[in-house]
Amino acid sequence: MDRIEGLCLFFCCIVLGILSDRVEGLGVNWGTQAFHKLPPNTVVQMLKDNGIQKVKLFDADESTLSAFAGTNIEVMVAIPNGDLAAMIDYKRAKRWVEKNVTRYNFNGGVNIKYVAVGNEPFLKSYNGTFENYTLPALKNIQNALNEAKVGDTIKATVPLNADVYQSPENNPVPSAGRFRPDIADLMTQMVQFLSQNNAPFTVNIYPFLSLYGSTGFPFDYAFFDGGATPVDDNGIKYTNVFDANFDTLVSALKAAGFGNIPIIVGEVGWPTDGDINANINNAVRFYRGLLPRIASNTGTPLRPGYIEMYLFGLLDEDAKTVAPGNFERHWGIFRYDGQPKFPMDLTGQNRDVYLVAAKNVKYLENRWCMFNPNANDLSKLGDNINFACTFADCTPLGYGSSCNGLDANGNASYAFNVYFQTQNQNLQACDFQGLAKLTMQNISTANCNFTIQIASSGLRSSAPVYFSLLALVTYLFF
Ligand SMILES: *[C@@H]1O[C@H](CO)[C@@H](O)[C@H](O)[C@H]1NC(C)=O
Ligand SMILES: *[C@@H]1O[C@H](CO)[C@@H](O)[C@H](O)[C@H]1NC(C)=O
Ligand SMILES: *[C@@H]1O[C@H](CO)[C@@H](O)[C@H](O)[C@H]1NC(C)=O
Ligand SMILES: *[C@@H]1O[C@H](CO)[C@@H](O)[C@H](O)[C@H]1NC(C)=O
Ligand SMILES: *[C@@H]1O[C@H](CO)[C@@H](O)[C@H](O)[C@H]1NC(C)=O
Ligand SMILES: *[C@@H]1O[C@H](CO)[C@@H](O)[C@H](O)[C@H]1NC(C)=O
Repeated sequence: MDRIEGLCLFFCCIVLGILSDRVEGLGVNWGTQAFHKLPPNTVVQMLKDNGIQKVKLFDADESTLSAFAGTNIEVMVAIPNGDLAAMIDYKRAKRWVEKNVTRYNFNGGVNIKYVAVGNEPFLKSYNGTFENYTLPALKNIQNALNEAKVGDTIKATVPLNADVYQSPENNPVPSAGRFRPDIADLMTQMVQFLSQNNAPFTVNIYPFLSLYGSTGFPFDYAFFDGGATPVDDNGIKYTNVFDANFDTLVSALKAAGFGNIPIIVGEVGWPTDGDINANINNAVRFYRGLLPRIASNTGTPLRPGYIEMYLFGLLDEDAKTVAPGNFERHWGIFRYDGQPKFPMDLTGQNRDVYLVAAKNVKYLENRWCMFNPNANDLSKLGDNINFACTFADCTPLGYGSSCNGLDANGNASYAFNVYFQTQNQNLQACDFQGLAKLTMQNISTANCNFTIQIASSGLRSSAPVYFSLLALVTYLFF
């Protein structure tokens, strides 16, 4: 072996060493509903630093996509539900594809692999709002991709909530899985179209929500460590709800005649705050079971082998709706500022390692807003707390959450500070009719972080609007 070959071998080994540390089936969801956003380049660098090679987005934002140029990270772009109706016009769908997909399709461009058409559009709580639009939109987008000659490598799919299928109450086993009766025909047509185009079926599966949603749910069955009493399905023993849920889908697909269609898990994860079961310990337990299964291509009893899965989610999002529950803003494997929350080994070896944090994050100054203990008129305290919590995230104060142990003054301080930070530490945002004051001391407690926000361009200067709203609220309620 001459020197060149030796050198080559040396570098090849390094490259392979790095590659073997990366898990092929692993992706993450990157949602951006936060008042302060990390710059896209910072997030993309963080993904690279952690060897994450697949990302699922919730729109096709230009600055986000530009940050992926030249990285080779596989990207799923998305059409939000609100835009589905427009896509039933083929010309409109074609323009979407030109502007948001093919424009990036050049050497050194963005490696777009999928277009998500809607996000859980058939959720029961949407009352059928998107049922008439989703399949036509899916067809138009895939046909536009095909017409643009990128349809062989870029597939349209519809991320669906797990409530599009079920097994009957009198036979609650995975093998009895069928599509929900009210949308069964629609689902069959959709799967047929996906199958014709070699596109995957995408489903979001949340063991946390199974636990959250039903009081009698066996706790251990939400996790992967085998502690639960198995559910016996004709000899197949299910010890976790993830496998059971996934195989209910496999059975529904099989019954519809498409038992072999590829399935992607579009979202799976565990939140760390906002509910009694949403905490670091449970999240660590969940991921310590999930990640080795992704890394070793374990699959499920009915689908052993490779399953592409996207963790939900990358970062906490303090501006999300809490309609599903207070936990909704706390799904990140990273905090709002790109700091890892807990040990996590993406390679599935469960080593006690942390993910690589976001680099060069700029924070606002180290100053907090707190309740002024010398304030004498407390009659408007409740309204001011309500106001702060309407425009900033107070979910850590709730029952079972990280800041639930604070006293009444602590509650007020938490609300005032989080609002002040959300408002970019604008000094006018730390008044609250004389009830608040500024402090340079870190007023965090052992369990409860009074955070300093990051400096970012994510906040449009909405402060004046909020202040006039405060005036309005004051006018209406005092
Ligand atoms: C492309 O995607 C963006 C962001 O999701 C959206 O606002 C825009 O309308 C899309 N462009 C077209 C031409 O549809
Ligand atoms: C669906 O219907 C329920 C009950 O009628 C209603 O409360 C809810 O607001 C509706 N949701 C949507 C998204 O229309
Ligand atoms: C969907 O289309 C059907 C048939 O045209 C119609 O009866 C139904 O009201 C539509 N649903 C919605 C939510 O628009
Ligand atoms: C603090 O706020 C939380 C959430 O609103 C509430 O449950 C708790 O009772 C409050 N604590 C005190 C001492 O007022
Ligand atoms: C404030 O204190 C908490 C708890 O000790 C700590 O975790 C956090 O990093 C501190 N924040 C700042 C900005 O120093
Ligand atoms: C508070 O934030 C620090 C980082 O500044 C983190 O290390 C710590 O775990 C957080 N504590 C809680 C209770 O979230």
